[in-house]
Amino acid sequence: ARVTLRQLLDHAAEYGYGVPAFNINNMEQGIAILEAAAATNSPVIIQASRGARAYANDIILSKLIDGLVELHPDIPICMHLDHGNNEATCMSAIQYGFTSVMMDGSLKEDGKTPADYAYNAGITKRVVDMAHWGGVSVEGEIGVLGSLETGEGEKEDGHGFEGKLSHDQLLTDPEQAAQFVRDTGVDALAVAMGTSHGAYKFSRKPDGAVLAMNVIEEIHRRLPDTHLVMHGSSSVPEELQEIINKYGGQMKPTWGVPVEEIQRGIKHGVRKINIDTDNRMALTGAIRKVLSENPSEFDPRKYLKPAMEAMTKLCKQRFEEFGTAGHA
Ligand code: G3H
Ligand code: 13P
Ligand code: NA
Ligand code: ZN
Repeated sequence: ARVTLRQLLDHAAEYGYGVPAFNINNMEQGIAILEAAAATNSPVIIQASRGARAYANDIILSKLIDGLVELHPDIPICMHLDHGNNEATCMSAIQYGFTSVMMDGSLKEDGKTPADYAYNAGITKRVVDMAHWGGVSVEGEIGVLGSLETGEGEKEDGHGFEGKLSHDQLLTDPEQAAQFVRDTGVDALAVAMGTSHGAYKFSRKPDGAVLAMNVIEEIHRRLPDTHLVMHGSSSVPEELQEIINKYGGQMKPTWGVPVEEIQRGIKHGVRKINIDTDNRMALTGAIRKVLSENPSEFDPRKYLKPAMEAMTKLCKQRFEEFGTAGHA
């Protein structure tokens, strides 16, 4: 059944688990995510970015979600807009059946320029007011995602600021986070503590200097009832890097967010964990393997089926690791 983010995360908070939010762009990803949710009896958040909506088309995407909900009536499914950049994008998502929207006002509409507090709080509050009229949940973000190692905003295919940012901008200020929740009434709050989107997050296994989980603990102390969101939370598994590179890919060595750090976050108020890159890697590794082992193959089903299986395996792992399994 279709549920809101608020319903789903309130339950997660009551029982002390986290819920992965997996990005979706096509039918194969949708089927793979729901297979994993059904196999582990997990509630699930499916999220589509603006890029995903443009790629898949809003009409097709919304019918795809209808199909997944109908196919899995016993699984609570939240359909969430990832990184909405203005009121109109959030409202059109709601019109297409999304039960939750992210208004990311940490950056201006261009998705690159860091915004000041007044802009962020103002636009987020306007979206909260409108969304709540329709029973739709809202995620806000305070602090700019980016690397504490380099001071850079997003890298590679990620979004965000290009150029250098200060530690102050890259780490959410707990006091400001508390103010933001009071000013906006968001249902969930994304915070910045050193993660970034994409595969290239850390140049070595992250320690507390580059992945500041203590900031999450500090925010949770001030906002014990607020559902926290970790973006950029792919773990970028070494096995998947190896599979991709073994079959002709060229990924540079890199580290993501260790699962044990996410589990630490879940103990301190993290309820929604955003994962896209790991699934992209699972799909791509499987497709590369089939095509390089069977160069004469050209039936898409022959590589998309194993790709879906690889993605389902990854999603099942995260449902187990985050304690989501068994809570549908
Ligand atoms: O926000 C980051 C997600 O990985 C979505 O990425 O905008 O390329 O669809 P995207
Ligand atoms: P990853 O790139 O780490 O998978 O993060 C995805 C994300 O935060 C989507 O909003
Ligand atoms: Na989001
Ligand atoms: Zn994100």
